[in-house]
Amino acid sequence: MITLQNVAVAYGETPVLQDVHFALPHGAFAFLRGRSGCGKSTFLKLLYRDVEAQSGELFIDGVPMQQLQKFELRRKMGIIFQSFELIEQKTVLENVLLAGKALGRPLAQITEEAERLLARVGLSDKLHMFPAQLSGGQQQRVAIVRALLNKPKLLLADEPTGNLDEETAADIFQLLHELHEEEQIAMLIVTHQSHEHIDATTYWMEGGRIVEQAATKLHR
Ligand SMILES: Nc1ncnc2c1ncn2[C@@H]1O[C@H](COP(=O)(O)OP(=O)(O)OP(=O)(O)O)[C@@H](O)[C@H]1O
Ligand SMILES: [Mg+2]
Repeated sequence: MITLQNVAVAYGETPVLQDVHFALPHGAFAFLRGRSGCGKSTFLKLLYRDVEAQSGELFIDGVPMQQLQKFELRRKMGIIFQSFELIEQKTVLENVLLAGKALGRPLAQITEEAERLLARVGLSDKLHMFPAQLSGGQQQRVAIVRALLNKPKLLLADEPTGNLDEETAADIFQLLHELHEEEQIAMLIVTHQSHEHIDATTYWMEGGRIVEQAATKLHR
């Protein structure tokens, strides 16, 4: 669904990504790994157009990305971060609904969808609580639901468990993998951990290039 050919990105004069060739198939579940500073966050920002490519070609569903307005592109994607980025003054349900309201969707429809997804991630009893009243793992679940509310084709995640303990992190990865299958959403997740128990393709980045790709296929 995403194809990049010979893409380069620089911050000012400093090159950060170069010679990037990358293809993410529809329905993929993929990790992006590599040392700190190698360009992983910049790569995700490139995909959601928070930074622009200096050169090269980028396609989403065969359409050159530059032909899409930023809002059209973002509509296809959900994004989650290490710091959950929830609004503290709004409840769990309100935080999730914001994503649907931004697209002008009917309130009844998005409320039903929000409640379904919040129940799915085990937060039915937290709808009217505020982020500060939730654990980190629960807050990230809210952020995941918010990212999925508009049924994106692709979820981008930048170290989604960076602020969580190991066990909670494993739960979140398991949940993401299940949601990937149930909701048929491709996911590209930046992570520093290895997740050998999850079927995934791992892309490795080094010095601003994607240098390697490996698939783990589990035999259950
Ligand atoms: N806004 C910016 N302006 C200038 N340089 C930047 C900017 N953001 C990142 N960089 C530089 O680009 C390089 C890649 O940064 P990036 O954040 O993409 O790395 P990363 O792989 O996500 O690292 P980490 O694993 O630590 O999150 C780094 O050398 C960083 O200092
Ligand atoms: Mg980063």
